[in-house]
Amino acid sequence: MQNIYICIETKVSKVENRAAKNEYLKTTPMISLKKINKTYQTGQSSLHVLKDVDLEIGEGELVSIMGSSGSGKSTLLNVLGILDQYDSGEYHLNNKLIKNLSDTVSAQYRNQFLGFVFQSFNLLSFKNAQENVALPLYYKKVKRKERNAIALDYLEMVGLREWAHHMPNQLSGGQKQRVAIARALITQPKVVLADEPTGALDTKTSYEVMKLFKKVNAQGITVVIVTHEHDISNMCDRAIRLKDGVIHHGEDESAFST
Ligand SMILES: Nc1ncnc2c1ncn2[C@@H]1O[C@H](COP(=O)(O)OP(=O)(O)O)[C@@H](O)[C@H]1O
Ligand SMILES: [Mg+2]
Repeated sequence: MQNIYICIETKVSKVENRAAKNEYLKTTPMISLKKINKTYQTGQSSLHVLKDVDLEIGEGELVSIMGSSGSGKSTLLNVLGILDQYDSGEYHLNNKLIKNLSDTVSAQYRNQFLGFVFQSFNLLSFKNAQENVALPLYYKKVKRKERNAIALDYLEMVGLREWAHHMPNQLSGGQKQRVAIARALITQPKVVLADEPTGALDTKTSYEVMKLFKKVNAQGITVVIVTHEHDISNMCDRAIRLKDGVIHHGEDESAFST
């Protein structure tokens, strides 16, 4: 039923592009999950949130993770982002086994491979756009002058060079998310993980942000976007569907309406 998604696309070039990407993905998985399980324990009760999740995402893919609220999307993204541990199975990121890592090594891998974008932007309100974008380089001990210069280049890339000295409360939602995307990119990650990045934006602004993700992806960066919006998902190469913590391959889209 995957074909349905390809058939509804009218642009032939996009289909060819997808086919080429799918071919590529077979040889070079950037993300590989095998039988991942995760259970939350809260007091007496336990909640099995990810159930035998098998998943491969190729280098350079742009994929969405779809599913209704509570289906485990953020949990899955947090595992992919090495922000949370899983209980069993194996997760390889860029051929490295991500399992039982110390906090230091987890942070090192996150800084080396990953960029994050969130629904609520997570900008520091007392720093201007340029300082927010530069922040990850502060943690990498890059000197202020150099990191601010690099931040300006990334603001330019997201079309906000002129807004460098504006504070977050002087920016629109779409502008804030573009600042957050620039911040995610400044460490040159291999993978960008975005949790409902358009969830707080109107439709037009959402599409602009998606256009930016596509531009990022065109540079070869793997992009994973959690969303429950079908139009956002349709702008990706492939949709991964989660229902009650189980990945469903080739299911009818209507089964996942939210
Ligand atoms: N830290 C946590 N402790 C306990 N339960 C949690 C925790 N985080 C999420 N959950 C529960 O796990 C389920 C999946 O949550 P989540 O991954 O956030 O879903 P989604 O992002 O798809 O809405 C939900 O029932 C949620 O309440
Ligand atoms: Mg969520």
